[in-house]
Amino acid sequence: MPATAPPDLLRRRQWLGRVGGGAATALPWASQAAASTTIRLSHVVAPDTPKGMTLERFRTLVEERSGQRIRVQIYPQGQLYGDQDEMQALQLGAVDMVAPSLSKFGPIGFPEFELFDLPFLFNSVTEVRRLTQGPLGQRLLERLGRQRLLGLGFFDNGFKHMSANRPLLEPAHFIGLRMRVQASRVIAQQMRALGAQPVTLPFSETRRALETGVVDGTENPVSNFWTQGMQTVQSDLSLTQHGYLGYAVVTHQRFWFNLPAPDRSLVQQALREALMFGNSIADAHNDKALAALQVAGSVRVHRPNNAQLTRLRQAVLPVQADLAQRIGQPWLDALHDALPKERHG
Ligand code: SIN
Repeated sequence: MPATAPPDLLRRRQWLGRVGGGAATALPWASQAAASTTIRLSHVVAPDTPKGMTLERFRTLVEERSGQRIRVQIYPQGQLYGDQDEMQALQLGAVDMVAPSLSKFGPIGFPEFELFDLPFLFNSVTEVRRLTQGPLGQRLLERLGRQRLLGLGFFDNGFKHMSANRPLLEPAHFIGLRMRVQASRVIAQQMRALGAQPVTLPFSETRRALETGVVDGTENPVSNFWTQGMQTVQSDLSLTQHGYLGYAVVTHQRFWFNLPAPDRSLVQQALREALMFGNSIADAHNDKALAALQVAGSVRVHRPNNAQLTRLRQAVLPVQADLAQRIGQPWLDALHDALPKERHG
């Protein structure tokens, strides 16, 4: 993270200063009870995605229950901050909450979050919840305190699939391709293990990079693929279901502890319910996006057979050992302890 804010970030912060907002912005003449608070929440995907809908539910609950005294201002689609600067904006107090994918915590000093990126690790989101709702998830969120951040909870998008202008059903198909990845070393390593060259790019630049040929392919759940219009720049989607994409809602301690205690409880409860709502609709939302994609008909959809899946799984096996070396084997042991025993017994 650069020591000084990039000009782009400073410009956006000045704009934010003009539009107002910020934690517990009590008007000097108003009583505490009537004080208004705006929670500024930035994220990078479309409103009509599992993340967008979860955060919208959070907004509705907070505003209704506070009688509009607490407002939630959502800035979707990276319109305010993108992958590169949203955490920095949170640190600087230019936004109050963000919900990055778990793959984006490595570069800011929390490589343990890359556990969730391990390919072919989870068979279902139920298995993911054994981590996120258990002691391991709690430990991960607590680590954010090292940078005075506060992790408020996890939620799902779903499973990622591979796309390109050809089917990607086994390692041989990846040879020579430049694949856009999030800033996760595990995902980069996964692409290398498959024979592709990983190219780290912000989410907001991905569609354009595919269109202009800067990269040849990418991976994402179908909801993100569809809402970014990637079907117009990729001819083939391979339903590999090789990795999980989920999120953590993060705030800054300065913002959080500046809120009056009753407001903190209200916000926390609203978020808890919104995350449960988000988890309950994410799968169906991805299915809906796949159905829409198939109706639109511009993309060929492929499913790997069992032999191809086995070859993909085998190719990415070394990725786990590499992560263990970076973050320590005890994290991997805790991960496997949390997963159903029959998977590795
Ligand atoms: C997101 O769902 O937040 C973006 C994922 C990505 O960068 O691929």
